[in-house]
Amino acid sequence: MKVIITGDHAGMVLRNAAKEVLDELGFEYEDVGADCLSSVDYPDYALPAAERVANGEFDRGIFVCGTGIGISISANKVKGIRCALTHDVFSAKATRLHNDTNVLAMGERVIGPGLAKEIIETWLTTEFEGGRHEKRVNKISHYEEHGCSK
Ligand code: RB5
Repeated sequence: MKVIITGDHAGMVLRNAAKEVLDELGFEYEDVGADCLSSVDYPDYALPAAERVANGEFDRGIFVCGTGIGISISANKVKGIRCALTHDVFSAKATRLHNDTNVLAMGERVIGPGLAKEIIETWLTTEFEGGRHEKRVNKISHYEEHGCSK
């Protein structure tokens, strides 16, 4: 599993939490997020990192900003990305089981590193359930491909 981490100036604490979990799990990762606290624009970090998940260079992404909202909206604009903004362990598990999400977004002004680490570990280690959920995910991909729901 290869994971790309990114985030703006408001995501450094949870990005470090993500790295601790990835080290514990022995997964490969690259952090391409902002490297100082000066204010930057979250789309400049989310969009190129999401493209690297969509093109197969990375299996998953973990994206952090202040709320997680801007970075998740941006990520979901990239074709092939299913990004879930997640601040609880139940949703982290459900979004892997049901939505096969390939990007996890979190806001470090919303939750602390302890909970974030549990969310990240759950999200990284839960497999997609497939079955009826696959049909639903395929409908999203069809829309991305053809620009219509039929
Ligand atoms: C930056 O101040 C903040 O707006 C950003 O990190 C994020 O929360 C946007 O959605």
